[in-house]
Amino acid sequence: MIPVDSMHVFDSTGNRSSDGSATNPDSNSTRIHGRSAGRVVLALTLFLMILLAYMLIEPYWVQKKYYLIESDEIPQVFDGTKIVFLTDIHHGKFYSKARVRKVVEDVNRMNADVVLLGGDYVEGSPKYIQSCFDELKKLRAVYGVYGVLGNHDHWQGADSCRHAMAAAGIKSIDNGAYWITKKGIRIRIGGVGDHCEDKQYPERTIDSVNVSDFVLLVSHSPDYAMEITTDKVDYMFSGHTHGGQITLFGKYAPKVPSRYRQKLRTGLVSVKNCKVIISNGIGTAFIPLRFFARPQIVIGELRRI
Ligand SMILES: [Fe+2]
Repeated sequence: MIPVDSMHVFDSTGNRSSDGSATNPDSNSTRIHGRSAGRVVLALTLFLMILLAYMLIEPYWVQKKYYLIESDEIPQVFDGTKIVFLTDIHHGKFYSKARVRKVVEDVNRMNADVVLLGGDYVEGSPKYIQSCFDELKKLRAVYGVYGVLGNHDHWQGADSCRHAMAAAGIKSIDNGAYWITKKGIRIRIGGVGDHCEDKQYPERTIDSVNVSDFVLLVSHSPDYAMEITTDKVDYMFSGHTHGGQITLFGKYAPKVPSRYRQKLRTGLVSVKNCKVIISNGIGTAFIPLRFFARPQIVIGELRRI
């Protein structure tokens, strides 16, 4: 005979309820599932918050990206010449004047022989044009600073940009070109108008050159490389793609503003008639986020082979 006060009620799983009554197995399992789902949602939220925090931080993590620019057309006197290429600053509400100043200081510390600017100086309003060039006028290079315009500059006012650029002592190679001379020997530096918003006149760069002259071309968009029909251009510098800005760990970007998508997204690419160096640029377009497409200052060193 079992005493009444020592009797307990057990449920079907062998668990005893605190008040002695049997628990409902269905409600127990619902509670367990509810707790697991809660943990999954919490982990997912945490993961997304970390991801977003990283995407907000990456635009500040500037990479110095080095390239050897090799050619047997590079004259001996230009061997070792340092070209710094800066593009897609997008000075605007997400890229402050102080950040432009900092990047200019970084470039000046590199002691460049030539600084090339790839356009998209501003974003969102024409009011940023003057303040951007107020900083860019401090850029220093032995043989000068040269630049083209990008699509965003056209949207905010190409003429204002051109005026501000000239006043800042930056030589326009927007459908223009210059010879750089050292000890009487020369190389050609030119550029073309923006591929989306302007026309391209490469003849202004290449008409006066021989096939044996070394020629660098700047085009805001890398897509122009596919339209080059002459073998007079040796290397082209471009931006515009921002490396995709948001990528799948640097391997693939769902959105690239190029007809050729991943092929002309970032890095050094050989196309039919020249080689293209595509920079991820400095700023961001539309949203202040990057993911595995770090902002870049490109440093190219001329190497005679
Ligand atoms: Fe851009």
